[in-house]
Amino acid sequence: MENNNKKVYVAMSVDMVHHGHLNIIEKARELGDVIIGLLTDKAVASYKRMPFFTYEQRKRIVENIKGVTEVVPQTSMDYTENLRKIKPDYVVHGDDWRTGIQKPIRSKVIEVLKEWGGEIVEVPYTKEISSTQLNEALKEIGTTPEVRLKKLRRLIDSKAIVRVLEAHNGLTGLIVENIKVKKDDKEREFDALWISSLTESAAKAKPDIELPDISSRINVLQDILEATTKPIIYDGDTGGQTEHFIYFIRTLERLGVSAIIIEDKVGLKKNSLFGTEVYQEQDEISSFVNKISQGKKAQVTNDFMIIARIESLILGKGIYDALIRAKAYIDAGVDGIMIHSKDKDTTEILKFCEEFKKFEKKVPLVIVPSAFSHVTEEELIDSGANVVIYANHLLRSAYPAMIKTAETILLNGRAHEAECYCMPIKEIITLIPGAK
Ligand code: SPV
Ligand code: MG
Repeated sequence: MENNNKKVYVAMSVDMVHHGHLNIIEKARELGDVIIGLLTDKAVASYKRMPFFTYEQRKRIVENIKGVTEVVPQTSMDYTENLRKIKPDYVVHGDDWRTGIQKPIRSKVIEVLKEWGGEIVEVPYTKEISSTQLNEALKEIGTTPEVRLKKLRRLIDSKAIVRVLEAHNGLTGLIVENIKVKKDDKEREFDALWISSLTESAAKAKPDIELPDISSRINVLQDILEATTKPIIYDGDTGGQTEHFIYFIRTLERLGVSAIIIEDKVGLKKNSLFGTEVYQEQDEISSFVNKISQGKKAQVTNDFMIIARIESLILGKGIYDALIRAKAYIDAGVDGIMIHSKDKDTTEILKFCEEFKKFEKKVPLVIVPSAFSHVTEEELIDSGANVVIYANHLLRSAYPAMIKTAETILLNGRAHEAECYCMPIKEIITLIPGAK
């Protein structure tokens, strides 16, 4: 076997090692010393689902594969920086990159390698293995509370924006877990689930005033946990009495929830989107700060996040009040800030974001664009948001469809005309895995 100290560079994400990876490394090993450019979480998340295993876990596996002499981080899909540093004689890759999303990356690699006479070597793509299938298998096995809990922080660190959708029962949880689309050759899916107090209450035909008690809410949460593996952000309303809040945090941690968001209101909570139409009272800064710090002291893991939701814009108190509160809550150790607004006009909330960007001590910023749904994720990223929550959309879209069906049956004295609004019987009975 020829090995004349040539340098061979291979970029990989290697979430789950399979013989496709080994085929490539074996070929690379024949050509020289193999340096793996291991894609960081950020690099992988820029074009597909964040890896299951962390960078450090993946690195440990890859550096122990026969023939690998070094593992270096590759921080984006673009090879250029690493190639210019390492100046490899060869870059080895599966021939699948000749088409699709990787095509321009391949061209750039060829271009850069020319600077010192390097070449690409392509290995036939290993067809009988699919990372997608492996991922599906992994999903079927499920997750553990610990793995799930840690995922949210990793996602925030590695994604431009973490995309979250509301779930209010097991079925909607399944939707958030499984729905995927392809856009511009990249796969898009939701990263996490929002357990909304509004939609959970509405699904029980209750007003959003902290009516369902903790046991009832935990029952719903259990159904969602069973149906999903993605991280969960829990709507904790006001957090209740501090003495109760600190208990509840530990319950959520035990179940594998990643974060709770609590809003700085006291007394009978009403939904924020009512704004000043109803009486709602904001908490004193000192008292909310106390709730946050007690909560932070109570949590058992380092990974659980307590996110403070600021209601100043909702209550017409303006951005100055919101900014003072944000600073105080961050000083109290909060892990994120959610700034809420019920205005379609985004001037005020974007002004808050602009000022928030200038904070010396920063935490992730969460935005819930229910009232200003015209704002795009790109715009939210520009404003400095780290997490976007689509807070009520599955419930809001299901309700009109159900009304339409009920009315159609009444109008026609039979269900035939409503069939077009319904999914086929065969599909509903097999919708949930394990039904047969
Ligand atoms: C929820 O989804 O329950 C929320 C967001 O708290 S909002 O309804 O806008 O207050
Ligand atoms: Mg709520």
